Amino acid sequence: MKANPLQYADFGKGKTAVLLFFNPSLRTRLSTEKAAYNLGMSVMTMNAAQGWKLEFEDNVVMKSDKAEHIREAAQVISQYADVIGIRTFPSLTDRAKDYEDAILYKLIKYATVPVVSLESAIRHPLQSLTDALTISEHQPRYRPKVVLTWAPHPRNLPQAVANSFAEWMLAWDAVDLTITHPKGYELYKGFTAGASITHDQKAAFEGADFIYAKNWSSYHDYGKNPKQDLDWMITGDKMALTNAGKFIHCLPVRRNVVVADEVLNSAASLAIEQANNRTYAAQAVLYELLHSK
Ligand code: CP
Repeated sequence: MKANPLQYADFGKGKTAVLLFFNPSLRTRLSTEKAAYNLGMSVMTMNAAQGWKLEFEDNVVMKSDKAEHIREAAQVISQYADVIGIRTFPSLTDRAKDYEDAILYKLIKYATVPVVSLESAIRHPLQSLTDALTISEHQPRYRPKVVLTWAPHPRNLPQAVANSFAEWMLAWDAVDLTITHPKGYELYKGFTAGASITHDQKAAFEGADFIYAKNWSSYHDYGKNPKQDLDWMITGDKMALTNAGKFIHCLPVRRNVVVADEVLNSAASLAIEQANNRTYAAQAVLYELLHSK
C-alpha cells in the first residue's frame, strides 16, 4: 500500500466508509479518509459527540438528552455504509465499564457491516499497526529492543495507546519489549504479560533501538495522573543511552513536557514519518475488511 498507494484505486468504487468520532482527532480522521480515497471509496464522517447524542445502555427509559438508541442507529448507518469506523473515549472514572469497551462492542453487535476501531476506550489498533510498520522499516537488527516509556502530561489520558502497543509488540514476537514507568502507573496485566517491566527509566533506555514515549493515566488509581514533574521527559541525555535509538510517538505531543525539542527536532525522531504511515495501515485494514466481504 505504501509503495503504490493508488494500486487499488478502483477497488472501492461504489463503496462507502462512515466514520463516527465521539472524540476529536487529527491524524486518525484524516489518514483514514485519505486511505479510503486512495482505495477509490467515498467517505462520510460524523462528529458524533456533538449534536446527536446516542444511548448505549439497554433497557433504559429514554427521557434524557439522548436522541436515539445505538440499536437503531447502527442498523441505519449500516444501510449507508460498507464499513463503519468508530472512535470512542473512556470515562476515566469507571474502570470496569471502560474496560468492557461497551460503545465499540454495542456498535459491532448491532451493525450489519464490518466495524473498525479508530481508537476505543482501551485500545488503538490502527495506531499499533502503524507503529509495527514504522519499526519494521527502521529496525537495525533482528528482534530490536523496543522500549515503551511513560512520559509526563498535564492531562489525564487513556491507557489505550500503551495497552495496544504492548499487546501488538508482544503478539508480534519480532521485537524485545521493555516497559518503563513510575510506580503507580502499572498497566493492566492482560496487555503486558511477557514484557520486561522496570521503574528505572535510564536502565531501560540502555541499548534500546526504539523509544516509544507515551503518557497514560493510572490503571490502578483509575484515571488519575498525579506525577506532574518532568523527571520522566525524554531528553537528549537519555537518548544518548540508547543504541542510536529512534524516537517514536503517536502524536499529538506536548513539546518539552513529554519530549524535549532537542529529541523531537532531531534526525532520531520518526514521529512525522510514523504519522504518514497511518494512511497505509488504515488502507491495508479497509482493503482487507472489504476484500474478504
Ligand atoms: N495518534 C492519533 O490517534 O492521533 P489523533 O488523535 O489526532 O487521531
